[in-house]
Parts: sequence; C-alpha cells; structure tokens
Amino acid sequence: LQQAPVWVQSVTDSTNSQLMHKLKEGVVLEKGAVLVAEAQTAGRGRRGKQWFSPFGCNLYFSMYWQLEQGIQAAMGLSLVVGLAVAKVLQQQWQLPVRLKWPNDLYLEHKKLGGILVELAGQTHAQCDVVIGLGLNIRMPDQTDKAVDQPWADLTSALGQPIDRNLLVALLQHQLVLELQQFSQQGFAGYVQEFNLLDQFAGEQVTLSSGSQTMTGLCAGVDAQGGLVLEINGQKQSFYGGELSLRKA
Ligand code: BTN
Repeated sequence: LQQAPVWVQSVTDSTNSQLMHKLKEGVVLEKGAVLVAEAQTAGRGRRGKQWFSPFGCNLYFSMYWQLEQGIQAAMGLSLVVGLAVAKVLQQQWQLPVRLKWPNDLYLEHKKLGGILVELAGQTHAQCDVVIGLGLNIRMPDQTDKAVDQPWADLTSALGQPIDRNLLVALLQHQLVLELQQFSQQGFAGYVQEFNLLDQFAGEQVTLSSGSQTMTGLCAGVDAQGGLVLEINGQKQSFYGGELSLRKA
C-alpha cells in the first residue's frame, strides 16, 4: 500500500461517525486512511457507552479498512488491532501493555484505551470497517468524575510527554502491516501472541451479555478470535462484540 492519508480535525462529534458517514455517502477511501481529532463531542465506546474525549489530551483515532474475508472475520480483526497497538507501545516506549478480550488495552491493571470496530457496509465478497481507537495520553484533572473505572495514561506511565505525531504515524504503519497480514493469513497465526498479552489468562472471569452471565477459567482465544472459557472442565468458545468480561 502507498502511504494513506492522515486527516486532522480540531473538534468533531466522533471520528468513527465521521468516517462511517463518508462511507455511507459513497466517498471512496484509501485503505489505511486515518482521521484524528483533538476533541470529540459525542465520542462513542462499546455497548452504547460514551467515550470521554476532552480537548488536546488524548488520542481519538479512526482508520478505514476493508475486509476481503467478509464479516465473519471482524472478531479476529479487532483482536489484531489491539495487538498492533500493544506492539507500538511496547517497541517504542517499552510499555508492558496487556489486552482484555475483545478490545481493551490495559496498563498495570488499569484501562489505557479501547477499540471500537464498526461495520459500514458489506457485499458478498467484502466489508468496509471503521476501526476506532481511543488512547489515554494525558488525562485532565477532572477525569475521575467522568470515567467510571480505574484508568492509566501514557504521560503518567512514562513520566514525560510523548510525541503524538510520532504515535499516530507508528500506529498507522503498524496497523496497515498487521491488517495486511491478517487479510492474507487470518487470525490463527495471532493466537499465541494474543494469549501472551492476555490480561486475564488463567483467571476466573465472568462474561456477560445483557442479563446472562457465565463464569469460567479464562483459557485464551481460539483460531477465530473467540474467547475460550473452561466451565466445569469443558472448554467453550464465545463470540460477539456485545459481551463484557470482568474478573470473577
Ligand atoms: C471502548 O473501550 O468502549 C472503545 C472506545 C473507542 C473510542 C474511540 S475514540 C475514536 C473513535 N471515535 C469514537 O467515537 N469512538 C472511537
């Protein structure tokens, strides 16, 4: 791929919504094209939650990609995105980032960022996806009022500011590289890598979807990117973006 563009906006509703909008209007985007913003007025997290998006503090990043394997590959794709981000932070800043299935980034047991993959449209052969990434870089003082769980940010973890331009360039590069490999080889080759970074490996966890809950031992992911739980000695895989996982 040629270097795809990076667009920068000051304030927007949601970088994911902006790219979804363009696709729905029939705008042709290059694979790997990125939109970042300094602030979002309607930042979206998974399961309909808001994403805290104050001005000038963090990274609000969305990338366009096209899946040739069709929609069933979306589960693996979102795990590969997490791995790519973890690799950048590990290689460039030596940060021991962990992943929580399906797509949260953790640092020292606190949430550092999250991924929201949305499907913009599909034909029988391919589907358009928007990959959203929110990464905490320097959370402002009032954060604890706005965020309902323990959080980490890169500036506190490193004890110094980071170059956000470099971060965006490295993320775009690594994501394109990994997503191309994923497009050619699927998720199977990533299973071991994911399991090594799994925040909950070997722990008792509870998986919930609406009012349904399931408790078991976290036994990593399978070759499709499903979560494997060991329940009463039996291994069972779970798929689907609406599931929520926590320590039992
Ligand atoms: C989550 O952990 O719930 C996922 C959060 C994803 C947030 C990012 S910020 C950039 C992009 N635009 C959005 O509105 N959401 C994603």
